[in-house]
Amino acid sequence: MTDTKRKLRSTEWFGTADKNGFMYRSWMKNQGIPDHEFDGRPIVGICNTWSELTPCNAHFRKIAEHVKRGVSEAGGFPVEFPVFSNGESNLRPTAMLTRNLASMDVEEAIRGNPIDAVVLLVGCDKTTPALMMGAASCDIPAIVVSGGPMLNGKLDGRDIGSGTAVWQLHESLKAGEINLHQFLSAEGGMSRSAGTCNTMGTASTMACMAEALGASLPHNAAIPAVDARRYVLAQMSGARAVAMAREGLTLSKILTREAFENAIRVNAAIGGSTNAVIHLKAIAGRIGVPLELEDWTRIGRDVPTIVDLMPSGRFLMEEFYYAGGLPAVLRRLGENGLLPHPGALTVNGQSIWDNVREAPSFNDEVIRPLDKPLIQDGGMCILRGNLAPRGAVLKPSAASPELLKHRGRAVVFENLEHYKERIVDETLEVDASSVLVMKNCGPRGYPGMAEVGNMGLPPKLLRQGVKDMVRISDARMSGTAYGTVVLHVAPEAAAGGPLAVVRDGDWIELDCHAGRLHLDISEAALAERLAALEAAPAPARQSGYQRLYIDHVLQADEGCDFDFLVGCRGSEVPRHSH
Ligand code: FES
Ligand code: MG
Repeated sequence: MTDTKRKLRSTEWFGTADKNGFMYRSWMKNQGIPDHEFDGRPIVGICNTWSELTPCNAHFRKIAEHVKRGVSEAGGFPVEFPVFSNGESNLRPTAMLTRNLASMDVEEAIRGNPIDAVVLLVGCDKTTPALMMGAASCDIPAIVVSGGPMLNGKLDGRDIGSGTAVWQLHESLKAGEINLHQFLSAEGGMSRSAGTCNTMGTASTMACMAEALGASLPHNAAIPAVDARRYVLAQMSGARAVAMAREGLTLSKILTREAFENAIRVNAAIGGSTNAVIHLKAIAGRIGVPLELEDWTRIGRDVPTIVDLMPSGRFLMEEFYYAGGLPAVLRRLGENGLLPHPGALTVNGQSIWDNVREAPSFNDEVIRPLDKPLIQDGGMCILRGNLAPRGAVLKPSAASPELLKHRGRAVVFENLEHYKERIVDETLEVDASSVLVMKNCGPRGYPGMAEVGNMGLPPKLLRQGVKDMVRISDARMSGTAYGTVVLHVAPEAAAGGPLAVVRDGDWIELDCHAGRLHLDISEAALAERLAALEAAPAPARQSGYQRLYIDHVLQADEGCDFDFLVGCRGSEVPRHSH
């Protein structure tokens, strides 16, 4: 495979004995780099999303050191560089607002620099798609190294899951089952080690997606952040990146249509986050692979969810790794004819099936056999209808089976603030059969499509013991959340979608089996309401990045990328800087 004569990009910087070569080398030498490192060996960029404001990625300097060992050991030249870090927990109004910003940063940083291959250090939710999107638009050899999940959360001697515990404890607080002291005392125990959310939230889901796509080494998704084997994997990935540079194993050879079909199946098997629908579409768009919402139904529905992790199930990422991790899941799928493309190429140069065909499983409670699934019909439910002409998404494994077919009257909130004000009103006309509808939380409307779709239930119903209701919005929800929640309604209210004209008391019909989301008013009445719909108010922010975002963001069914960023622009070396 190795083509040692392949011309490396970095040669265009360091390979000439002229003025330009002098300049490029001389300034690099201020870091103590000897002449022999400029002998034409592959230069491997380590794209680092380390930040103390992204707690899930705060341990990445140490991971980078281990990647560097691998690069050097394999005869490469490691160069670490920072990119915008999207921290889910701190960034307001939502880390999703800056996913595309980070992807632009990554793309331009790679293309403009002397880099022959890149190791993508990712962890917290948005960092994984952002770096994969940026790298895909350059299409150079790239390998994903995730930061790994946190150890199991602990509260009063039992396990609690990142995020999921927050939603559960908050409902218990509102229902009067626990007091404020009990609520707040869970903070320290929930997040007690380095790493990403330990549930099958978006971070774990996207780590599994990267592995299922073949963009990481086997086991990348699940090794706990603090497990020494995480550092071994980082070192191996660094070494592998050097070989990939020599082989010219670019991302477009990995991220094929087949790889995405495998990933959609795997998402169903792991009970993965709804956010994967948006992020996979965005990554596919950057590498030029067509992917439609209906692919999730066609490929992903009827696949059993066999990974019993919160929020759908019982366990956490630590148990998932000890049970065999994603390779064990891939093997189970493959042995049952459920891995559509076993021959798909992965970053180690082998097919995905070669990587997992002998992968052991150690715990059938955590990674269940296919005939004893957690949920028989996993996968995403894609909904369409007059309320969501361009689609909406629901995750059946996180929903209540009895609500998957439901007809109820709308209780409408114009935006998040309106919801917060109204939901606590004891006189609000609402019962367990009502459908909570929230508008203006989509890509343009929020802006950034915040994770607010899993609206908490009215306190008065919680006190009556109501645990779930149908909720509909143009928002997203955290991958750690649960409930019968219809998300990503497109077009969003702020883009003039029919969601904008739903009124209190309207009847709404949800039928997941039929993939239908229907506002039960006549076509004429709907048309009349839409015609009377006033143009969305001008966004509060008239300049800056938010302005760019609102003007160019695509709707949820198109992955919320910017219209001008879709596509692969390649890694051609730009002209000289001097
Ligand atoms: Fe960072 Fe969940 S908040 S992974
Ligand atoms: Mg999240």
